[in-house]
Amino acid sequence: MDSQAASSGVEKFFDFLQNNKMPYETGVEMGCGKGRNVIWLAKKGIEAVGFDFSPAAIKVAKSRAKGTTAKFIVSDATKKWPFKSNSFDFGVDCFASTDIESEIGRRKALKEMIRVLKPGGYLMAYLHAVGAEFHKHVTKVAPGHEKNSFVRGDGKYEKIFNDAEIKRHFKGLKILEKEIIEKSTNFGDEKYPNKHYWLVFQKPH
Ligand SMILES: C[S@@+](CC[C@H](N)C(=O)[O-])C[C@H]1O[C@@H](n2cnc3c(N)ncnc32)[C@H](O)[C@@H]1O
Repeated sequence: MDSQAASSGVEKFFDFLQNNKMPYETGVEMGCGKGRNVIWLAKKGIEAVGFDFSPAAIKVAKSRAKGTTAKFIVSDATKKWPFKSNSFDFGVDCFASTDIESEIGRRKALKEMIRVLKPGGYLMAYLHAVGAEFHKHVTKVAPGHEKNSFVRGDGKYEKIFNDAEIKRHFKGLKILEKEIIEKSTNFGDEKYPNKHYWLVFQKPH
């Protein structure tokens, strides 16, 4: 994702937090890529930090963040995160869990996300959902090693989720919002109708 515009899912989450008068002073994004969301959040006055296991992506993020308060770190979401427990008002998983290649890895990342969120803190997850033409096409022409997964031309793995997987994966959290957002997504040179889950969870108090 080379876009410098924030994800519409992150903008929607920010509106959600503001409209519901929920705290949003500090936020963390796992798998932040080149930093579009963290930079956007920092410009909104949030103390925002993003991390990614790709040093190349973090290098670009840092250079794009010049003149803002956005912070970036190289770190692997499936290992211990370099943040204190109970330290963030909210967390963002914007197509990051989709890129983690095993259920064990995704679980470890979620466990760390829950650890670093404050009690009562919020998590937004934006993920591919099953059922759209995109899902049918990519799992047919380029299936990955898990059910409902695929591999892009550059070798990048992506998981598509169904309702049962969402329920199982996020079971330690209270679900506040669950929407299916219709989008179109590129695969190679073609665009396909796609569906995303837009989810908001709360860590128990
Ligand atoms: C689809 S991109 C999304 C980037 C960003 N969230 C955005 O919305 O622009 C997924 C990102 O997750 C990162 N990623 C995948 N597995 C990771 C892991 N185990 N730890 C940290 N980052 C990871 C990739 O390097 C990539 O930058």
